[in-house]
Order: sequence, then structure tokens, then C-alpha cells
Amino acid sequence: MFIAGNWKMNGTVAQARDLAQALVNGLPDGAPATAIFPPAIHLAAVHDIIKDSPIFMGGQDCSSAENGAHTGDLSVAMLADIGARGVIVGHSERRTDHGESNEAILGKVKAAQSAGLGAVLCVGETLDERQSGRAETVVQSQLAACLPTTFDSGSVVIAYEPVWAIGTGMVATVQDISAMHSMIRQWLQAHRPEIADTFILYGGSVKAANAADVFGADEVGGALVGGASLKSDDFLGIIAAAMKA
Ligand code: PGA
Repeated sequence: MFIAGNWKMNGTVAQARDLAQALVNGLPDGAPATAIFPPAIHLAAVHDIIKDSPIFMGGQDCSSAENGAHTGDLSVAMLADIGARGVIVGHSERRTDHGESNEAILGKVKAAQSAGLGAVLCVGETLDERQSGRAETVVQSQLAACLPTTFDSGSVVIAYEPVWAIGTGMVATVQDISAMHSMIRQWLQAHRPEIADTFILYGGSVKAANAADVFGADEVGGALVGGASLKSDDFLGIIAAAMKA
């Protein structure tokens, strides 16, 4: 299991430190792999807190470019230099807020690979796409377009996040999660065998109260958690549910 907390654009540096410290203090022995994705401006402060703990840290986005004239962007080398070991790419909020295309996201996955960072590639359909029966086709085309055909140093984890479930309190049913995750596993086996065994995380309104159901679905290797990762008790509750699953 792999449990990841995406803090999105929340908090002050003091709050980021406190949250990281509470997780370091509260992480139980035998916890699954645990990662946090603080806002970029808090990465250095958070790294100071987690550096001697089993928790690892990543960025919420990266540039596909190596360096140079890209105002406001962060390179994978910068992330790695500050202690990040991974990066989220293709989150639906990046796709919506910044018009990120599958092609741009592929560039970011490749950049993460080149720096030895683990990429958490997010895929997922909108409500309209699900209601019109296109959920699986959309996810397959995202996987095909955003995943390189060969892989080198960094790992790639897939996060299935139905867009309509993110931050809405609506969670996909266990049947829908099982069906989508099984499809993703089969797709990887057929098209990207090098990473066919990777974690497939579910994301979208995961909380301590529904985590056991989510983790009971087929091929769920953990969760990408937004809102419930901002309070240590909630996030640790999800980690506890993963340990029981
Ligand atoms: P949420 O966000 O848990 O707040 O729905 C999940 C995500 O966007 O990764």
C-alpha cells in the first residue's frame, strides 16, 4: 500500500511544519509507504521535519523543461535538490486550471524519470464522461498518451481520480473502483509491462470513514488524499485503515 497526501494550495509554513511533525510523531510502526506533497514554497521547511523519518515528500507539479526561461515553474532537478523524491503529474486541477494537455503531462513524466523521481500520474474521467459511458475509454487514452513507452530510473504510480469525486464528498462505488482499477491493471500489463506491477491509487474524497471500503476494492494499492490529508488525525486514520486492509 502507498498513501499519499496532496496538500494542494493550503496553509502557512508554520502549519506545514506542524502537520509534518504530527505525522512524523504519529506514524505507526509498520505503516505503509507514506508520502506528502506540500505546496512548493513549503518543501524546504517540511523536508527539515521529515528527513530522518520514513515519510517521503514530493512536489505537486513540475516543468518538463530542464531549466531556463520558464517563469514560475520548477524543474525536477530543483525538486530533487530540495529533498523531493516524487512529483504529482497530470492532476485534474492542473489539467483544468492550467489547460495541461496529455502531451504536456507526458513531458513531465519523462522529466521525473530523468531525475529519478517517482511520478504519481493522475487519470480520471469527468461526470459527463462517466454518464455517457466513456469513463474507461477516457482513462485508457490518458494512460496511453501520458505514459512513456520505456522507463528508466524513477518509478511511476497511477492515481485514478474521477474528477467528479475530487473535493466533492462523492466517492465512486466499490464496484466502479474495482472495475476501473482492474481495467488499468490489465491495460498496463498489455501496454506498459515494465510498470505493470506498480501501485494504482484511488483518489477522490477518501476519508478515514470510507477508506476501508476503498481499500477493499480490487487492485487498489493505496490512496491519493486531498482534503483529509490536511489534518494529521484524519490522514493517520487513513493510514490505519490501510494497515488493516
Ligand atoms: P480530495 O482530493 O481527497 O480532497 O477529494 C483528492 C485529490 O485531488 O488528490
